[in-house]
Amino acid sequence: MCGIIGYIGNNNCILHLTNGLKRLEYRGYDSAGIAIINNKELKVYKEKGKLQNLINLLNEKRNEMSNSNIGIGHIRWATHGIPNEINAHPHTTNFAPIAIVHNGIIENYKELKEDLITKGAIFKSETDTEVIAHLIGYEYTQTKDLKTAVINATKQLKGAYALCIINENNPNEIIATKRFAPLIIGKGNNENIIGSDIPAIINITNKVIYLDDNETAIITKEDIKVYDSNNNIINKNIAILNIKEDNLNKDGYKHFMLKEINEQPNIIRNLINSNIVKERIKNLPTNINNIKIIACGTSLHAGIIAKYIIEDITSIPVETESASEYIYRKNTTNKNSLVIGISQSGETADTITALRQAKEKNATTIIITNREDSSICKYGDYILPINAGIEISVAATKSYTAQLITLYLLSIHLSELENKNDIKTKELKSHLNEIPNKMEQILNNTNIIENIAIKLSAYKDFIFISRGTNIGSSMEGALKLKEISYINATAYPAGELKHGPIALLDENIPLIAILIPNHITYDKLISNCQEAKARKAKLIAITSSNDETLTNLFDYIIQIPEISENVSPLITCIPLQLIAYYIANFLGKDVDQPRNLAKSVTVE
Ligand code: AGP
Repeated sequence: MCGIIGYIGNNNCILHLTNGLKRLEYRGYDSAGIAIINNKELKVYKEKGKLQNLINLLNEKRNEMSNSNIGIGHIRWATHGIPNEINAHPHTTNFAPIAIVHNGIIENYKELKEDLITKGAIFKSETDTEVIAHLIGYEYTQTKDLKTAVINATKQLKGAYALCIINENNPNEIIATKRFAPLIIGKGNNENIIGSDIPAIINITNKVIYLDDNETAIITKEDIKVYDSNNNIINKNIAILNIKEDNLNKDGYKHFMLKEINEQPNIIRNLINSNIVKERIKNLPTNINNIKIIACGTSLHAGIIAKYIIEDITSIPVETESASEYIYRKNTTNKNSLVIGISQSGETADTITALRQAKEKNATTIIITNREDSSICKYGDYILPINAGIEISVAATKSYTAQLITLYLLSIHLSELENKNDIKTKELKSHLNEIPNKMEQILNNTNIIENIAIKLSAYKDFIFISRGTNIGSSMEGALKLKEISYINATAYPAGELKHGPIALLDENIPLIAILIPNHITYDKLISNCQEAKARKAKLIAITSSNDETLTNLFDYIIQIPEISENVSPLITCIPLQLIAYYIANFLGKDVDQPRNLAKSVTVE
């Protein structure tokens, strides 16, 4: 969690730092800060709350920073210590005139703190990060060379970190290093920039160096030198990024979330038309006899749906599990397992650990991710990029459907590898081709959904139900609503309703049911809705059924195009995303940056 940035060049760094932090706001937004060297003096500015508070402060203090072309910045998602000015980064040390920003978590900070106090460190904050500042400061007193001090200090750290450090004694360089947290260095023209993620640097340059774990870089305005953990200089490739600035703008939409919802048909179209799965998954070992799908949050919901599909068209048993559970139990992964890790960001700590463990057990691994440059990819035998483009809204939408379609295409590929190119698989393929147009049909006519959402916005608790593949959709619909509107929402397989949750039902609980008429459980689901109606619950259907009798049963019907049950999650998710969006928007919530959340959860 958190985003870090560093800039050195000919220009005043303040605008570059705040622009970069703006682009990293999805990583955290409870406090922010910068450190600069202005006229040979180290200065630190921090504010609690949204980045705008820091920008306002910097505007007030503009006169103090007229000559600063080197600086580092941070946007925080609090782990150790509440979000306040003291705990905000950058952190400093009484050992040396240095300032640091940190993304990650230091696990042995308590032991280090005790030791550093005996050496004279004076702690001000409750953060784990301050330990790093003092540790580097102390090492600097020993070596008088900041890069060596950083290498020596980071060897003592347990946990994850990406760090940028500046030193008043040397206003011509930034030191950057990382382990288990992302950090890239952008090479500009007489200016260089460091960031946690591409959006932070892309307006300066598209030439980047990806720092690997335990590497340390000295960045001056003209040069970037990278060293290994033994302090030996190493050669690094410069990669050219192919990302357009437009991807990072709202394009006239009120929120990134709405923009990203509307991008889905084209993303799906491109993935269906690509040959990406066949190109990437070649020579899959033939010994695979079980599949584990491991992910968190929205990605987990995509995996829950994939279990239904893979088991339907192949003979391979599939287990889908939350990464945070998988990593702390004796699971049955072995050399005959295919472990599929799904992560939009590729930086989710639990999912990364799960995939590392799977590799240790000699399983074959596939990573489905939106970020081929992310940390999880090193644990993948095969990488399937979902090519959804950078997703800025904290609530995932387009990455979810891109993961889902990739999982469908992978299922088809697995079935074909099993020589099971049977009628079911062929039908599935042809049904997938219909998805983008059907998504567009819904997206071209959202008024009804918006009106229903506004009427529902007064309720405090929701229940989502479905059967079959759409159980995952119900879970995702409930998650979206919770995340961005802070309304309580729970999802159940409809058959579970009568085993307890029905006790909750009365006129204060809307029940959102996803009903696909060509499915074997359709009538059972209707009965469940009737049982709910008898308890006065407000009933909302998301359905492709034209059955007129439904109008007597349901208070509101959201009609979706006719669709086969097996691919319907790719369609039912659209009204669910829109319901959550319109409710949150109507309630005036911060849709793109919901409270307490951050886009990539890099802590366990
Ligand atoms: C989605 O809306 C959430 N913000 C969250 O559940 C997310 O899907 C989860 O943290 C997993 O992230 P990942 O896909 O980047 O691993």
